Amino acid sequence: MVFPEYRPRRLRRNEAFRSLIRETRLDASQLIYPLFVMPGKNKRDEIASMPGVFRLSVDQLAKEAKDCLALGVNHLLLFGLPEKKDAMGTGAHARDGIVQRAIKELKNAAPEMMLTTDVCLCEYTDHGHCGCIIGNQVDNDATLEILAKTALSHAEAGADMVAPSDMMDGRVGEIRAALDENNFDQVPIMAYSVKYASAFYGPFREAADCAPKSGDRKAYQMDPANAREALREATLDVDEGADILMVKPAMAYLDIIKSLRDEFDLPIAAYHVSGEYAMIKAAAANGWIDEERVMAESLLAIKRAGADIIITYYAKDMARRLKG
Ligand code: PBG
Repeated sequence: MVFPEYRPRRLRRNEAFRSLIRETRLDASQLIYPLFVMPGKNKRDEIASMPGVFRLSVDQLAKEAKDCLALGVNHLLLFGLPEKKDAMGTGAHARDGIVQRAIKELKNAAPEMMLTTDVCLCEYTDHGHCGCIIGNQVDNDATLEILAKTALSHAEAGADMVAPSDMMDGRVGEIRAALDENNFDQVPIMAYSVKYASAFYGPFREAADCAPKSGDRKAYQMDPANAREALREATLDVDEGADILMVKPAMAYLDIIKSLRDEFDLPIAAYHVSGEYAMIKAAAANGWIDEERVMAESLLAIKRAGADIIITYYAKDMARRLKG
């Protein structure tokens, strides 16, 4: 079909036609909202580089969860800021740790809210790395046991799903085994399978107080230059028992989302990370872009690239917009 017989504009004539042929749609039920939980009472600290995102004390969580549910957002991703940090990140698997307390509070207040936990050590180690340090490097195999313990402690507290973000080799299998041995075979793993060593995490590290005190994360997170390696990482996680594969960050890695979509039949998640959110906020604050439209277009692009699930600080705003 060629012009003038075929005229693409025919089906763009009005919103009813545009909507009729729309290929991609966002749905609040596929958005996950990250929450930062901090110690103390009555705390609602706005994160300077992430306007509209707060660190909340445990007593503030119930209200937040109810607000999300009212908008149709029924999945949360929990991050914890512990009271104390140490070399081995033991706060990550403490029975009365910050995330474990948050889960109990949320399950009490809003049992229908689905809770996924970030499984990582960087918020809990005094050195800020995602694993324990032996000699002068982040020791992969010694970290696995701590991660498995952490995931298990989250499941015991009532978490519905765990999401390891540490990028140690073999952690998905280790976590799966620990969950299965303890009768948590129904708790899925959403693996941060393809997580790049990205500068887009900057604002998050302020929010979660987890920047490495020395060095960087390049010895465990992936090189942004690599696309084929993403498939190898994802293949390992599939073989180790991952239920959902995640790509992170999102906007600068749409090609990676697309190639995982084409290669694998598991659900794909994408994390629209802190720096992506902060950039839109900053430009909007200057009056340079239309925040709502840029938000919606960004999330739509992530979905169009092949993500089923989007983790985003915009989950509530997007859900509000979808409600109309
Ligand atoms: C912890 C973790 C990070 C993010 C999610 N889990 C930071 C990092 O790896 O340095 C980033 C999320 C965001 O930027 O929104 N390992």
